[in-house]
Amino acid sequence: MSKPRIVLAYSGGLDTSVAIEWLKEHKDVEVVACAVDVGQGVDDLDEIRQRALDCGAVESVVVDAREEFAQEFIAPALRSNAMYMGKYPLVSALSRPLIVKHLVRVARETGAAGVAHGCTGKGNDQVRFEVGTMCLAPDLENLAPIREWGLTRDAAIDYANERGIPIPVKSKDSPYSIDENAWGRTAECGILEDPWAQPPEDVFERTVSIADAPDEPEEVVIGFRAGLPVTLDGREVPLAELVDELDRRAGAHGVGRIDMIEDRLVGIKSREIYECPGAITLITAHRDLEDLCLEQELAEHKRGEEGRYAQLIYNGLWWGPLKKALDAFMDEANRYVNGEVRVQLFKGHATVVGRRSEDSALYSYEMATYDEGDQFDQTLAEGFVKLWGLPLKTWAARTKAHGDEL
Ligand code: ARG
Repeated sequence: MSKPRIVLAYSGGLDTSVAIEWLKEHKDVEVVACAVDVGQGVDDLDEIRQRALDCGAVESVVVDAREEFAQEFIAPALRSNAMYMGKYPLVSALSRPLIVKHLVRVARETGAAGVAHGCTGKGNDQVRFEVGTMCLAPDLENLAPIREWGLTRDAAIDYANERGIPIPVKSKDSPYSIDENAWGRTAECGILEDPWAQPPEDVFERTVSIADAPDEPEEVVIGFRAGLPVTLDGREVPLAELVDELDRRAGAHGVGRIDMIEDRLVGIKSREIYECPGAITLITAHRDLEDLCLEQELAEHKRGEEGRYAQLIYNGLWWGPLKKALDAFMDEANRYVNGEVRVQLFKGHATVVGRRSEDSALYSYEMATYDEGDQFDQTLAEGFVKLWGLPLKTWAARTKAHGDEL
């Protein structure tokens, strides 16, 4: 009888390459490698596919999921202005559920008994992978070779050398732990673990430093329909491409560097460096257009739900009922978010310098103006203020009657 199969989320890096052999040796399984392109700017997908086979996988699958990532993961995150702790646009947290989806699909297609990921036991990603699998395919086993083996980097290299595993050679080995996709790039470890240390320039890849940013600002006009960007400078651009183009253009002006202390789900505080030029520019523009198009009670409520929504995704609850219900709310709230936003990219900032909406703005010149053409009836204000203040007036009178101070 053949051995049970495990589908491993394969990145092409050292850890997951070594994990193939480790799983075979310690779990007595066959390994199917599955690499998912979520816009991490991987080398050749074919090369990654072959690398997994060279490292001992029985089968190796690569999936181009860039459009799917944009449509089904970036889009809802943008509609919700999702930023964990108000700062982090959820780069890694967004890609995990998509990778899980493909792991499960490949597991079904290959009759696998389980799935495996290359996360350690200290991060959030293990949670996102495993809870995702528990939801989509509870019968599948979850394996976490790296969490289990506890190998240091050098030990992993020795392990590979002893067994003749062709370790992926990189021209320049990064001292940082990097995760990357179309929505941004994350960096941890090395000198970054000292929260006082300024991140060295070699951490960054998608943004220039402010010192090196051009002295001339660049303007970009982003057109939105139902809360999603559809045009750049008047050109219709498919979402995945639009995010890529904006990421490049904003990154060239140093937009989107984030340096933060983050609360991980596993209880640790960690220092994280992110580069999210496209995400920051789009969220900034989207928020601004919402201010133009959303009625104030809805806008206020939405702002409150956004943090909760981001937290759910961060904590690995993508497939849960509250996330689903909030998606329905976010979609409805975005129904009339139509229009254009002018954004100036300059010296590390994406600044909204103008916005308009032909058919969906709630801003009314006639209501707002202090000039000719004012249609706001100021005589109504007197009675309004009296009634608005009535509860407080009553309360204040009672407080004073008791001899207390306001
Ligand atoms: N701290 C971030 C998060 O939890 C980034 C994780 C990056 N993952 C990685 N394997 N380097 O979303």
